[in-house]
Amino acid sequence: MTELVPVGVAGLGRCVPDKVLTNFDLEKMVDTSDEWIVQRTGIRERRIAGEGTVTSTLAIQAARQALEHAGVDPLDLDLVVCATVTGDQPFPATACRIGFDLGAKNAGGFDVAAACSGFVIASQVGANMVRSGQFRRVLVVGAEILSRILDYTDRNTCVLFGDGAGAALYTSLADAKGQGEFLGGSMSMEGGAEDVLANPGGGSRFPASLETIEKRLHFMKMGGTKVFRFAVRVFADLVRRVVEQYGREQIGVIIPHQVNQRIIEAAMEQVGLPMDLVFSNIDRYGNTSAASVPIALREAYDAGRLQKGKLVVMPAFGAGMAWGHLLLRW
Ligand code: UT7
Repeated sequence: MTELVPVGVAGLGRCVPDKVLTNFDLEKMVDTSDEWIVQRTGIRERRIAGEGTVTSTLAIQAARQALEHAGVDPLDLDLVVCATVTGDQPFPATACRIGFDLGAKNAGGFDVAAACSGFVIASQVGANMVRSGQFRRVLVVGAEILSRILDYTDRNTCVLFGDGAGAALYTSLADAKGQGEFLGGSMSMEGGAEDVLANPGGGSRFPASLETIEKRLHFMKMGGTKVFRFAVRVFADLVRRVVEQYGREQIGVIIPHQVNQRIIEAAMEQVGLPMDLVFSNIDRYGNTSAASVPIALREAYDAGRLQKGKLVVMPAFGAGMAWGHLLLRW
């Protein structure tokens, strides 16, 4: 057995499209108001990909930034993992397009479909590949163009989500040159929840047909209240576990899946931790599913919120219902 390799984060990247869709724009599209959206979610605007932009377009820009940050050439990548539920097409894997366009000729690639938990799950997969000694450099990207599966006649969903991508490069801790150390995380699921949060059409359950189009089954469907309760419960649980294992004073920043400001506040209240521990950018981007944590991680880095020697806790939760967390020490 080879010895386990300590793993680090060598680079971070993010990319959001330029086009801004504000709550006031949405007021003209559905029966909603800026006041309702801000009060219930904390979201003020989100980014929307323009025509011709596909998920890999955003992913590649985030990936390039992460590689530049790390000073790593795409030819030296061993693996590209893309977390997404809105890939360029159902198959092949969007990771293969990302690898090809980056010029990562020596890498393998696959996608992880775990919705909003995608990045924290894919990161654990990628980082553990490095830890095992099988690969030296693994690029993990979370990328979504949710606007292509949103029903802009359904105010319950269309106000919540946006588009974007974020990336992290995992290498040995020695190669990561003083960036964060990967400590681990968790992955959990509560199955049988296909009706709670899903894009029902186009798979083997409801293959594409005139009927699926008429019933609008190719758009996202969501039972918001169920997701709300689930999210508060598991978010609080994930943070509590870290507090129990490491102690409250070790936590430098909590970067949760950017789901809803009220969910974040309710969970933090349940665990009895102050909101100033949280990094949130939900007001500007809404919920970008698998992209939300890595976009926020790079922005927290830029804002100087990742404190040397302190824990970076990233809880995520969503469709599946899949949930888990990623834990770094910066
Ligand atoms: O990554 C996980 C993805 N899922 C989520 O992020 C969703 C989690 N859930 C939530 O964030 C919240 O449940 C929502 C923001 C979706 C809804 O907030 P809520 O406080 O749970 O509101 P509600 O669903 O109980 O709805 C309250 C009212 C309803 O009207 P009535 O029945 O009281 O007359 C809704 O029809 O608000 C209405 N409503 C809206 N009104 C204006 C729902 N959406 C809107 C809207 N604008 N966009």
